[in-house]
Amino acid sequence: MNRKVSVIGSGNVGATAARSIADKELADVVVLDILEGVPQGKGLDMLEACPVEGSDARVLGTNDYADTAGSDIVVITAGLARKPGMSRDDLLTKNCAIISSVTEQVMQHSPDCIILPVTNPLDAMAQVVYRKSGLPRERVIGMAGVLDSARMRAFIAQALDVSVENTHAFVLGGHGDTMVPLPRYSTVAGIPVTELLDKETVDAIVHRTAHGGAEIVKLLGTGSAYYAPGSAVVEMVEAVLKDKKKILPCSVFLQGEYGIDGLFVGVPCKLGANGLEQIIQIELTSDEDAALKKSAAAVQELVQVIDM
Ligand code: APR
Repeated sequence: MNRKVSVIGSGNVGATAARSIADKELADVVVLDILEGVPQGKGLDMLEACPVEGSDARVLGTNDYADTAGSDIVVITAGLARKPGMSRDDLLTKNCAIISSVTEQVMQHSPDCIILPVTNPLDAMAQVVYRKSGLPRERVIGMAGVLDSARMRAFIAQALDVSVENTHAFVLGGHGDTMVPLPRYSTVAGIPVTELLDKETVDAIVHRTAHGGAEIVKLLGTGSAYYAPGSAVVEMVEAVLKDKKKILPCSVFLQGEYGIDGLFVGVPCKLGANGLEQIIQIELTSDEDAALKKSAAAVQELVQVIDM
């Protein structure tokens, strides 16, 4: 294949995303981890699944960044996952050090890549990648909104007993408890859910979406979600590699859009071959705008702690 995606971190999210990228034959895949043997074993296992899946993607597991050279896209999932009772923000300092060092090594071998940060706390970690890589903002796109809106879509489809394919959901803001699901812009076959569901049900869906990650952490006991995060990564990878010009909520470096400057926050974005190709600005009510600003302030607090 002539495209290459490297996934840094061969844990639950990284391996899930890598496997799906290979299965869908989107690109050759390199999986890298600091653990010795684990990425090699998982990579080989994925390669051996390819004949069954009918995919000619080449998959390689490694500890050596030289193997990631010339990647079109690098997905960063390296870091510590949340444990029960631990907020995303608790992870801040440790994951900041990991992401800084990963970014430095990625850039040595793939100076023109597009980086999709996934590690939490997402928006702050995306800011670390942006600052440390020196890449233009179009090439650092955090994965959060696709996951959050997928959760909201699943809940909407369940509530109305309709196909998930008929659902659209918009979630803005930082990837944390302050995220801003927007029911007014969330639709079923083009109809806003606010016209299809009573307020109580909509509020419950909004609340469950905002706490969707914590719900899974609690159920799993150890570790955090990975199937939906893995799928969300793959949708973004596919949008870029196929130049789909797909509108997806992503965490990107805002420069005045939505009245926010110098900060990664989730907004609707057009993703194509050049990475972030456009930020879509939508009208917000004063309540929605206040919620978005509050969410941005929560990201700003983290960014200040790590001085990014
Ligand atoms: N370089 C490379 N890999 C690293 C490094 C590093 N410096 N530090 C840790 N890792 C690897 C770990 O060895 C582990 O294999 O990152 C992997 C993380 O995998 P998991 O612990 O399974 O975590 P996962 O569930 O995949 O979540 C990864 O994504 O959704 C977020 O909150 C989640 O921040 C977390 C990240």
